[in-house]
Amino acid sequence: MSDLMARLDAFAAFSADDGALTRLCFSPPHRAAADRLMEWMRAAGMAVHLDPAGTVVGRYEGARPGAPALLLGSHIDTVRNAGKYDGNLGVLAAVEAVAELNRLGERLPFAIEVLGFGDEEGVRFPVTLTGSRAAAGRFDPAALEGRDRDGVRFADALAAFGGDPARIAEAKRDALAYLEVHIEQGPVLEAEGLPLGTVTAINGATRFTVTVTGMAGHAGTVPMELRRDALAAAAEMVLAVEARGASAPGLVATVGRLETFPGAVNVIPGRVVFTVDVRASDDALRRSAVQAIREACAAVAGRRGVALDVQPGHDADAAPCSPGVVAQIEAAVRRAGVRPFRLPSGAGHDAMAFTGVLPMGMLFVRCKGGISHNPAESITAEDAALAVRVLLDILRNFEPAP
Ligand code: GLV
Ligand code: MN
Ligand code: MN
Repeated sequence: MSDLMARLDAFAAFSADDGALTRLCFSPPHRAAADRLMEWMRAAGMAVHLDPAGTVVGRYEGARPGAPALLLGSHIDTVRNAGKYDGNLGVLAAVEAVAELNRLGERLPFAIEVLGFGDEEGVRFPVTLTGSRAAAGRFDPAALEGRDRDGVRFADALAAFGGDPARIAEAKRDALAYLEVHIEQGPVLEAEGLPLGTVTAINGATRFTVTVTGMAGHAGTVPMELRRDALAAAAEMVLAVEARGASAPGLVATVGRLETFPGAVNVIPGRVVFTVDVRASDDALRRSAVQAIREACAAVAGRRGVALDVQPGHDADAAPCSPGVVAQIEAAVRRAGVRPFRLPSGAGHDAMAFTGVLPMGMLFVRCKGGISHNPAESITAEDAALAVRVLLDILRNFEPAP
């Protein structure tokens, strides 16, 4: 087998930043990474295309050409200053598994399609999972109108990338099932002393963007009691988000981005924009937390005399994995001599887009210290190779749902 770890290292060079991995959706480094991925797919015996939603699709025919496909996917976009393995491991491990079948001249009773999605992180545009939703036949056309920080429309960025906003419906894949290999991004497998785990469900998530508008003014002349400081108000809101996130087990809430305008040392902040990300395995708990956070922000705004605007973003309920797929993944893990272990995913994944559409499941790979969304993200070559072996075993024994 070729060296998966070396490929993951080489792939990390497709970045907008020198010395750090930042590969936002539909950016030039994303396009360069997609081109490299297509080369690797072709070398592994796949027929390749970029679908209208910007997903790289590689197809390895089964014993009978035109047979229905089993989908293997993950994403090749990253957060800013990312680790090398989030998303990329799942795509390149799938290519590695197909390359092995191709090397052996082995054809399965079904085709395999490897999907390299481009919009899982949701860092650039207000929505996320657009590539996987399109593949699942669930793309929301409202996403096309979303704009990035610089005002670029999603539809224009997609077209410049090589996609086709008018033909997104054609990205839908008719398939047997969807499987995803991904790093755990948490510490549980490491604590259990296990290289692999089987995912039971993916937590739901709600994201929104809050704009607080006060009054900009001179930092030296406006007395404290006459100010409407948007940042001081936002600071109270951020603490309310944190407090709510900490209020129930299994609930988390994060403000991950905050910008102050005009952003000068001697100007009272007139406007602040920040993001909120709320997650839980229990959808009712997540929804009530979102409501409570909105009410807490409104209360702070009323008390401080600032205006509040809330724009909804990504919103997805928890996604249970399919019991039949979970059982097949677990059986392969056991056959590899690893104690089977089931766990939920706190992070979101492309697999969510397929829940209720196709049988869906995920194989998690241990990562060092549970660290992710951080350049310190780390996995071992042994665990990565084991994941490819288990994936091959799942493929060779795969039984479509009756
Ligand atoms: C993606 O990594 C997410 O869970 O935000
Ligand atoms: Mn990911
Ligand atoms: Mn991620």
